Amino acid sequence: MSSIYESEKLLAEYLLFHYAAAEEILPPDRAWPAGMRAALEFPCRTVAHFGKAQVARGLDLGCAVGRSSFEMARTCDKVLGMDFSHAFIRAAEALRGGEALEYHRLEEGAQRTALIARRPGGVAGGRLQFWQGDAMHLAADLGAFERVHAANLLCRLSEPLRLLERLPSLVQPGGELVLATPCTWLEEFTPPAHWPATSTLAWLKAALAPWFSLQQEAEEPFLIRETARKFQWSTAMVTVWQRCKD
Ligand SMILES: C[S@@+](CC[C@H](N)C(=O)[O-])C[C@H]1O[C@@H](n2cnc3c(N)ncnc32)[C@H](O)[C@@H]1O
Repeated sequence: MSSIYESEKLLAEYLLFHYAAAEEILPPDRAWPAGMRAALEFPCRTVAHFGKAQVARGLDLGCAVGRSSFEMARTCDKVLGMDFSHAFIRAAEALRGGEALEYHRLEEGAQRTALIARRPGGVAGGRLQFWQGDAMHLAADLGAFERVHAANLLCRLSEPLRLLERLPSLVQPGGELVLATPCTWLEEFTPPAHWPATSTLAWLKAALAPWFSLQQEAEEPFLIRETARKFQWSTAMVTVWQRCKD
C-alpha cells in the first residue's frame, strides 16, 4: 500500500483541493482557462449525483480530508467517512470538531502561503464520524447504508474487485451508489493483473449488474494544484447506481 497519502505535501494539496475558495486555488492575478474553473468543487459535484431526499446513513469510502463526507451530511443524518491515510483522517476529524486548520499552499521552490481550512458552513459536526480504515477489508458488522460514495478510490486499491464484491451488502436495497474514477490505473497502486481487462465502465457493469442498476453516467473534471504554475486537470467517469431490491 502506498504511503504517499501520509505526506505533508499531499495533505496540503488535498486540503486546498477540498476546502479552498476558488480564488485561493486560482488567484485573480492571472486569467485562468474556463476549463480550470469548471473543474473546481469536485467533492461537492460528485455528491450532487445523489438524490435530494433526507436519508439515515451514508458512507464515504476513500474520503481523504473529508469534504465529500461533509457534503453528504447535508442530506444524511449520519455519515461515516473512511480513509486509509491516518494524516487525512486526523485533518478531517479536526475540521469536524470545529478546528481551523492551518496549511501551506506551495507557490514555487520553498515559497509557501499560509491558508486556513474550516468545516463547511451549515453542517453540524455531530452528524459525522471519520475512521481510518481499509476499503478492501471492511468490518463484517459495518451494516448497510442508504448512500455510498467512493470518489477516485478504485484505481488506488491493490484489489479493487474486492470492494466491488463487498458493495451489494454495503448498500441497502433501493439505496444509491456513486462511483467516480479517472481510470488512472498505475502499477504503483494496483498490480496490472487486477486492472480491468476491458474498459473500466464495462468492468463495473459486469461486476455490479446483477446487484445494481445503472442510473446515470457523467463526467466530472477535477483540478489539483501542485504549485502556482502546475496543476493536474483530470476527468472522472461518474456512474450512479441503484441497489436492486432483493
Ligand atoms: C485519489 S484520492 C481521492 C480522495 C477523495 N475521495 C477525492 O476525490 O478527493 C484516493 C484516496 O483513497 C485513499 N485510499 C487508498 N487506498 C485505500 C484503502 N485501501 N482504503 C481506504 N482508503 C484508501 C487514499 O488515502 C486517498 O485519500
